[in-house]
This record gives sequence, C-alpha cells and structure tokens, in this order.
Amino acid sequence: MDIVMLHPSHIPHVQTCNITNLPENYFAKYYLYHALTWPQLSYVAIDLSKSQNSPHDPPKIVGYVLAKMEEEPVDGIPHGHITSLSVMRTHRRLGLAEKLMRQSQKAMVETFGAKYVSLHVRVSNKAALRLYKDTLQFEVEKVESKYYADGEDAYSMKQDLGFIW
Ligand code: ACO
Repeated sequence: MDIVMLHPSHIPHVQTCNITNLPENYFAKYYLYHALTWPQLSYVAIDLSKSQNSPHDPPKIVGYVLAKMEEEPVDGIPHGHITSLSVMRTHRRLGLAEKLMRQSQKAMVETFGAKYVSLHVRVSNKAALRLYKDTLQFEVEKVESKYYADGEDAYSMKQDLGFIW
C-alpha cells in the first residue's frame, strides 16, 4: 500500500471511491480545486499489489483524504478542514484512514501553519467517530442540526494541532 499526494489524474478514481462509500459527493472541479490550491493536503491510498499490470491500467485507489485550508477563517486562526475521507470496504481496518489523516494534518502544520483542523461527521457514524475521537483525539465542538441533505445532524469536530508536531 502506498500513500501519495492527490494528482489530478487520480480524480475519477477518487470520485468512484467517494460515491461508493459516502452520500456526500462532489463535482470533479471541486477535487481539482483542492488538488491545485493545497496540493500538499490531499492524499490517496494505492494498492500496489493490484495496480498497473500494464502501464495503461489505472492505479487501484482504495482510499483518499480530501482536505483544504479554511480560506477566510471567522476566528482569524489559520486552520485546515477535512472535506472528505473514505476507504474501500475491502481495505478497512488496515490503518489507512489514520495514515491519510496524519499525513494531511502534518502538511497543514508544516506548509500552512495550521493551528487546528476541523471536520463534520454524521452523529450516527460510529466507525468514523471512533477514528476521530479515540485514534486522532478530535473533540466535539458542537452539534449542527440537520447539517446533511437527508436531515441528519453533524458533529462539528476539532483537533488542536499545536502540540502534535
Ligand atoms: N468500528 C469501530 N472503530 C473503527 C472502525 C469500525 N468499523 N473503523 C475504524 N475504527 C477506529 C478504530 O479505533 C481503528 O483502530 P483499530 O483498527 O486499531 O481498532 C481506528 O479507527 C483506525 O482505523 P483505520 O484502519 O485507520 O480506519 P479505516 O481505514 O478502516 O477507515 C473509515 C475508517 C474512513 C471511517 C472507513 O470506515 C470508511 O471509509 N467509512 C465510510 C466513509 C466514512 O464514513 N467516512 C468518514 C466520513 S466523515 C468525513 O468525511 C469528514
């Protein structure tokens, strides 16, 4: 398994992974906006055992993190934001999500001086909540009522990056 920076050529495969795993989907231009504006912050996990038997085969992308810097932070504090994270079912519980997140968070601090990172997650999403709370030490900041299109509430979560790197 390899973790590499999101390249524009990966975008169709990342979109497939996103559509397979999450109901929140985006146009290709939104991925491209992330990849071109903050290239250090978004990563893909590639299964090297399955990819490219021939040079024409696409890379087998089995997970991604799509992340950005908040452009006009209301609190005036530079911080990153996780737009989307997912790993294909076949490749879960191998530590890929944790690796993708840590790689992005490190770059947020080193490249952009981020003081914290934020994200939204469905209140019912037990796997992601365990990852964020227990593994990565995010904290719930507030509940955003009916944040999602289907009416589900979101936890708005934050992780202080000051003490990590
Ligand atoms: N149940 C309980 N805890 C879990 C689970 C689970 N199903 N999955 C991960 N965790 C926790 C565990 O503490 C785990 O550590 P452990 O395996 O040593 O016990 C830790 O998270 C790290 O797990 P990873 O292997 O790094 O996680 P994985 O690569 O499997 O990906 C993810 C986790 C991204 C939540 C995956 O299940 C997924 O893609 N789910 C569907 C999409 C999704 O919910 N994405 C997040 C939406 S929020 C957002 O995008 C900002």
